[in-house]
Amino acid sequence: MDQAANLRRLVLEEGDKKLKKTKTIAVTSGKGGVGKTSVAVSLSIALAQGGSSVTLLDADLGLANINVILGIIPKYNLYHVIKGKKKLKDIVLDVPEGIKIIAGASGFHQLANLDPKQRSTFIEAVAELDSDDFMIIDTGAGVSQNVLSFVFAADEVVVITTPEPTAITDAYGIIKSIAAQAPEKVIKIIVNRVQSVSEGKRVAQRVINIAGQFLNIKVENLGFIFEDMYVPKSVRNQKPFIVSYPRSKASGCIQIIADRINNRAIDTARGSGLASFFKNLFVSHEAEDVDDEPEEEGDS
Ligand SMILES: Nc1ncnc2c1ncn2[C@@H]1O[C@H](COP(=O)(O)OP(=O)(O)O)[C@@H](O)[C@H]1O
Ligand SMILES: [Mg+2]
Repeated sequence: MDQAANLRRLVLEEGDKKLKKTKTIAVTSGKGGVGKTSVAVSLSIALAQGGSSVTLLDADLGLANINVILGIIPKYNLYHVIKGKKKLKDIVLDVPEGIKIIAGASGFHQLANLDPKQRSTFIEAVAELDSDDFMIIDTGAGVSQNVLSFVFAADEVVVITTPEPTAITDAYGIIKSIAAQAPEKVIKIIVNRVQSVSEGKRVAQRVINIAGQFLNIKVENLGFIFEDMYVPKSVRNQKPFIVSYPRSKASGCIQIIADRINNRAIDTARGSGLASFFKNLFVSHEAEDVDDEPEEEGDS
């Protein structure tokens, strides 16, 4: 309780220092390989091109590959900050595409083991980044507690699916998990790899209808991205398509989505900030620690 009170005080103090706070957006999916990393990277760059300041956090613990898409090799990650070997500002990479990258990788496993003093130090460090407009978080796929803790900590969650029935079913699965534990969370959907505008709309509408009907949760349609051979091509070249092929079909779609996010961010003011994000992350990692038996669905 004491720790929680301390954290709360710290968060409030940090909050008072600056009025503007970062909006945190977790990009996730039920099924793997549907384009989370491609979307997270290109969307971050598009937001930056639109005048926003953006940090991209690689939180996919299994397949951290933002660095691969960008063709960079980060030397340090959050682990080094948590261990006190590096300052946060030393691990934040400014990349030529105009965004900042934080390699998360092994660092997150350590979050639960920090003592209160280390936590405060960490949260203070993170609050330094709080002048940014957005932090985009590229998470892993699926309904593991690890993925969900990032989703719950973020202001908003963007679920990526493709038109494949298996991807749609798994998207529904993750929305169901979010709805069960955080019914107030703002959930948006992007349909990736569509063949036509009508396919994009149809798939999004299906997910929105099922979520509304069976989970009583509102899912918003954020848009679609065309199937586009320039996406895998740019992965091979390790240069994001939004930069190397700005006039490709996929880039056009990302532009539209970025404009939507930028415009809505103006409407809804700001996010709850990074201190709050990491504080929530600590809490859910703690919860995970206490209850480390994986629960079977339909057990209770
Ligand atoms: N719109 C698209 N058109 C064509 N290929 C795509 C598209 N989006 C993603 N891909 C391809 O799908 C593969 C998986 O994408 P990735 O972003 O790594 O998915 P995830 O992060 O969800 O595992 C990559 O090889 C990528 O090139
Ligand atoms: Mg990925």
